Amino acid sequence: MTLQFDLSDRRVLITGAGQGVGRGLAQAFGAAGATVLINDLRGDRAEEVVAELRSAGGEAEAVPFDVTDYEAATQAITGAGTIDILVNNAGNAGAEGFAARMPFADSTPTDWDPFLQVNLYGVLHCTRAVLPAMVQRQWGRIVTIVSDAGRTGDASGAVYAAAKAGAAGLTRSIALENGRYGITANNIALGTMRTPLTEPLWAEMADSPQAKAILSRYPIRRPGLPEDVAYLAVVLASDHGSWITGQTLPVNGGYSFAM
Ligand SMILES: NC(=O)c1ccc[n+]([C@@H]2O[C@H](COP(=O)([O-])OP(=O)(O)OC[C@H]3O[C@@H](n4cnc5c(N)ncnc54)[C@H](O)[C@@H]3O)[C@@H](O)[C@H]2O)c1
Repeated sequence: MTLQFDLSDRRVLITGAGQGVGRGLAQAFGAAGATVLINDLRGDRAEEVVAELRSAGGEAEAVPFDVTDYEAATQAITGAGTIDILVNNAGNAGAEGFAARMPFADSTPTDWDPFLQVNLYGVLHCTRAVLPAMVQRQWGRIVTIVSDAGRTGDASGAVYAAAKAGAAGLTRSIALENGRYGITANNIALGTMRTPLTEPLWAEMADSPQAKAILSRYPIRRPGLPEDVAYLAVVLASDHGSWITGQTLPVNGGYSFAM
């Protein structure tokens, strides 16, 4: 048996890849030889990651657009050439991270919209845009980054949890509809991560009892890092992943197993 994780004949689009988990995904796909299309709302962040991948000898292009804008996403994706692999990673509520967290009973539709737009509509838009060409080529991989919150719920983050659960359900449905065309679609559900998004929270908590309480729920007593996620996405996207579809795979330091 030969292990074949060389993706040098594949082109991957990663949304929200300008920092954090998406940047880690970009580095891993770059290391596997893929041509990496770096999307971000922030063009400057996308360009930085492109420069990083190119200086490591890889092929990369910036494809900045807002995943919440259906027309812009469709136009950018259909104009970007072949996309063999889509990683739906852009999440939360905009370039600067979380929108307001609050008990659901205190919230209004205005508070819900940023969460739904990025975490659910963004996934709908990008997935819709890549699928027809994947069906035509009879090969495709879709990996959607969701959250444990979609399964466990999230106190003060109910709409985020709902959006992530919705994205996971969409991805499973895509798996059902398109397996016959050589297309797989899976979710990776993350636990608590340490990324630029959450760095200020970790810095604020330092070694506090609050931080210890969070980490005590994880058998592996540390937050996740982008590289903890990235290589699983490469496996799912490789030819070895061809019989794994419709799954939500937890990458969460054992949180779900310990619940
Ligand atoms: N950080 C965590 O603890 C955690 C936990 C569970 C799941 N996740 C999920 O992992 C994914 C990545 O999270 P992260 O921590 O790396 O986030 P992050 O905020 O550090 O990075 C997200 C990137 O996405 C970009 N982005 C935001 N809105 C966009 C839009 N509308 N269009 C295009 N790009 C956009 C941002 O500019 C940013 O560069 C998200 O889907 C998030 O929900 C994160």
